[in-house]
Amino acid sequence: PKFTKVDPDTCIACGACGTSAPELFDYDIEGIAYYKLDNNEGSTPIPDDLIDDFEDAIEGCPTESIKESDQPFSSSS
Ligand code: F3S
Repeated sequence: PKFTKVDPDTCIACGACGTSAPELFDYDIEGIAYYKLDNNEGSTPIPDDLIDDFEDAIEGCPTESIKESDQPFSSSS
């Protein structure tokens, strides 16, 4: 499985990821993106049927703020 989270320190609120993958990414009130499925903890696997959308989102992010891992992200990071 793959895991993801958005780095809010580098996200520039461009809005591309939620267009590519509306079921995976949403925005806070400042427009900063987060992973919807676990409130950006990075501990819930990306559903298989959304992997294509996820790849589109990663490729479309201008700041490489969408992180990807084969392991769950630590909730402290
Ligand atoms: Fe931010 Fe990248 Fe999405 S800059 S809004 S994480 S496409």
